[in-house]
Amino acid sequence: MCGIVGFTGGKQAAPVILDGLTKLEYRGYDSAGVAVSDKDGTIDIVKAKGKLKVLGDLTDGGKKLKGLCGIGHTRWATHGEPSENNAHPHCNDEKTIVAVHNGIIENFTPLKEKLMRRGYTFYSETDTEVATKLVDYYYKKYGEPLRAISEFALHVRGSYALAVLFKDYPGKIFAIRKDSPMVIGYTDGGAYLASDVPAILKYTRNIYYTDNHDIVLLSEKGVTFYNLDREEIKKDATVISWDAEAAEKGGWEHFMLKEIHEQPEVVKNTVNYFLHDGKLDLSELNLSEEYLKDIGSIIITGCGSAYHVGVVAQYVLEDLARIPVRVEIASEFRYRKPVLSGKELVIVISQSGETADSLAALREMKQNGVKTLAIVNVLGSSIAREADSVFYTKAGPEISVATTKAYSAQLIAMYLIALKLAKVRGAVAGEYYATLKKELTLLPEKIEKTLALKEEVQKFASQMMDKKDVFFIGRGIDYAVSIESSLKLKEISYIHSEAYAAGELKHGTISLIEDGTLVLGILTQKNLIEKTVSNLVETASRGAYVAVLASEKAEGIPEKFERIFRIPETDEHFFASLAVIAMQLFAYYLSVLRGNDVDKPRNLAKSVTVE
Ligand code: AGP
Repeated sequence: MCGIVGFTGGKQAAPVILDGLTKLEYRGYDSAGVAVSDKDGTIDIVKAKGKLKVLGDLTDGGKKLKGLCGIGHTRWATHGEPSENNAHPHCNDEKTIVAVHNGIIENFTPLKEKLMRRGYTFYSETDTEVATKLVDYYYKKYGEPLRAISEFALHVRGSYALAVLFKDYPGKIFAIRKDSPMVIGYTDGGAYLASDVPAILKYTRNIYYTDNHDIVLLSEKGVTFYNLDREEIKKDATVISWDAEAAEKGGWEHFMLKEIHEQPEVVKNTVNYFLHDGKLDLSELNLSEEYLKDIGSIIITGCGSAYHVGVVAQYVLEDLARIPVRVEIASEFRYRKPVLSGKELVIVISQSGETADSLAALREMKQNGVKTLAIVNVLGSSIAREADSVFYTKAGPEISVATTKAYSAQLIAMYLIALKLAKVRGAVAGEYYATLKKELTLLPEKIEKTLALKEEVQKFASQMMDKKDVFFIGRGIDYAVSIESSLKLKEISYIHSEAYAAGELKHGTISLIEDGTLVLGILTQKNLIEKTVSNLVETASRGAYVAVLASEKAEGIPEKFERIFRIPETDEHFFASLAVIAMQLFAYYLSVLRGNDVDKPRNLAKSVTVE
């Protein structure tokens, strides 16, 4: 969702900004723009609807825009259609104040009316133009940029990462953020600002993660941080350990395919980080064994695939640790008034750590005095910083909008937490505990083996590419994998799909099954195979084309099913980690075959920072 890049320093700014924006393309956008100021502060703005290439062509890769200081933006439309007029940067009438913004100004209507009463007119439908003119209003009132920015923050409601150029301050970028990500980088050659690290990693590894209401002044000489009272504050830089290639395609056709293939490594990294020499060490989470023993219940929340991890985890945690678990969609949970005893542990799962609804749910729970644990991939993200404890997954940067390796790493996080709880609560026998730990270390090679299904799955996808409806069904953990498989298929192939608990199909949805409807059954849970097979047979009798994904030793699968894909055996609690791989490949190949933009599916954004 919207990307921001800024640079000021010893080289032309526009090419750096355009290059940075291409690294943020994965966030999703429909228009883009760049503003550059020259030595005397005069600001030039170029904007274009559509892909960054259009902006690149208009400016000759940025070379036509001369100036050493600038800001750029990719816009994912919220207020107003995608158009050149609504694209950022936005400016005041004199073009002396120019801004880019990521987020949503919730009270933009009353603010706009107030500004109109003071003689302001508006040329776009955006909340960002209102934000820019609000800064202009306070700048004209107080004659000082830091004051104008802090007054802006005091008067707006909502989320923002806002970067502003003032004509009167050539070579300087002023910025502020609240609930929208913004990182700052610095080298001898200048200062950088971006929505995410990959945009500037090529230039610097020294990154400052900003907190809500930090005001930042970037200049060629350095970066200065202020609080809302305009007092200077100290911040420490984090040195990023992964390199720029980790966020590059590296010869793969798509980021999604690359990330699918990184899963054995990612799972290995996450397992090995917490499990060494047979010992499970979660001390980094700062949750004492006394506390873990005493937890009354667990509430897991998240959005999309992160929520789906929660659904798998519910089965695993309840079965292994014998603790009550509830899984809640964050956008619903945040508005509920759950009855809480205070003995709950709330686990918020998020790859980006910036998902607005998940962040809001976390805050809601904290306000209720409930302990929170975040499972997050992005270092220094809002959810990671606000939660009481953090489990950082070791997935590395995930660029493709459709999550694959982060989902897998989140599953591992949940397995490890389940094992820890099972152990301290005495819910698992010593021998089985050892077997489970061992099995986790074997998962990477089993994922590798599952990846070997690639060609078979690709061929199957080519036969299925004209399907209009696909049903994924399963029971227990297989149902949890079905909902993730269905989401994956929908989001990148644009084929309609449903995921159903196999036993629920006959309570209504089976009426949708027609001749040739593709029904994919997932059969890994030994005790449930027979039941799901019966449900699959019911669909086959109504004309469905039935294919199944089953574990190597699964028995009782009728030969009349059209296709059977086999995945390696593992402990029944961990099958989601293998089954999902085949389904990711299926969605990927269907999307490629249908000519879709796999990494940047239509209408979607990687990090959903609006409600
Ligand atoms: C999955 O492929 C999606 N792109 C989406 O459902 C995603 O998992 C969801 O938006 C949550 O994101 P988060 O993990 O960054 O919070």
